[in-house]
Amino acid sequence: MENHQHHHHAGAEAAVEDDAAMVELLDLDGEVTHAYVTEVMSWIGELAADQPRRRIVDLGSGTGTGTFALARRFEEAEVIALDVSAHLLDHLRAKARDLGLTDRVRTVQADLDDAWPAIDAVDLVWASVSLHHMTDPDRVLADVFAALSPGGLLAVAEMDSFPRFLPDDLGDPGDLIGARPGLEARCHAAIAEEHAERLPHLGSDWTARLTGAGFTIEAERPFAIHLTPPLPAATGRYAQVFLRRLRSRLDSLLSADDLAALDTLIDSDGPGSVLRREDLTVRAARTVWVARRP
Ligand SMILES: C[S@@+](CC[C@H](N)C(=O)[O-])C[C@H]1O[C@@H](n2cnc3c(N)ncnc32)[C@H](O)[C@@H]1O
Repeated sequence: MENHQHHHHAGAEAAVEDDAAMVELLDLDGEVTHAYVTEVMSWIGELAADQPRRRIVDLGSGTGTGTFALARRFEEAEVIALDVSAHLLDHLRAKARDLGLTDRVRTVQADLDDAWPAIDAVDLVWASVSLHHMTDPDRVLADVFAALSPGGLLAVAEMDSFPRFLPDDLGDPGDLIGARPGLEARCHAAIAEEHAERLPHLGSDWTARLTGAGFTIEAERPFAIHLTPPLPAATGRYAQVFLRRLRSRLDSLLSADDLAALDTLIDSDGPGSVLRREDLTVRAARTVWVARRP
């Protein structure tokens, strides 16, 4: 019994750390990609202008990057942040209080793999980098279709690739390692296989899935994020948190030299740390589909 409790406790502690790390990663992502989020929302605002959008759902809201951008863009709307994680939603509610948006933002905790919660007559759904996490995205799309009013819109944003921070011709990040050109590309290639197993719906054909669920595609648009100095202040920390997460999955998948270089980059100290490098940029690509329930 004691043993069991001990294990349980250790597991719970790890989960709390994971939660905290995820809160930080999602908030940093929102800060660094702020210009992209604003641009997408203004584009969706134009496409959605044909009828009132009173009730909006942010599907897989995380810490609310999309939720608050939607609340700003659609000033009359109620925005419902829907996520499986109570912890992320707690954080989101605290932000809503800080922003004075508690009257228009509410949260609903639900695991969409189980069932769609009791939310209907929805005018607009925003699903950012969340649908590929679902066990059966087609079932969730059918649920979204049913929850939307006729003329309701679903906007899906998915990543074409991971964000990249390092120059392709990366020089020596530490003292003894030597230049590591192509390090980041090798990291992404190494993780691809693990991803294919863990997240089989990442990079799937969302046009086909949306039309299969009965939606008509209104628009599909690629968004290239390419930030060069002066970068948002949070960029170094975002790169560090993102690369640390990647590093934790790469143990046996990269050469010892590449791992050593990566460790130097994600270390907070030392001149090679991404926290103080001057050669960082942010390159990311996302695609957004806007689909309509006829
Ligand atoms: C990569 S995050 C994206 C967060 C946010 N949309 C953004 O763009 O910053 C994916 C989110 O989907 C949520 N999620 C994953 N599986 C889910 C499920 N089965 N039901 C509800 N939410 C889920 C996660 O908790 C997480 O907050």
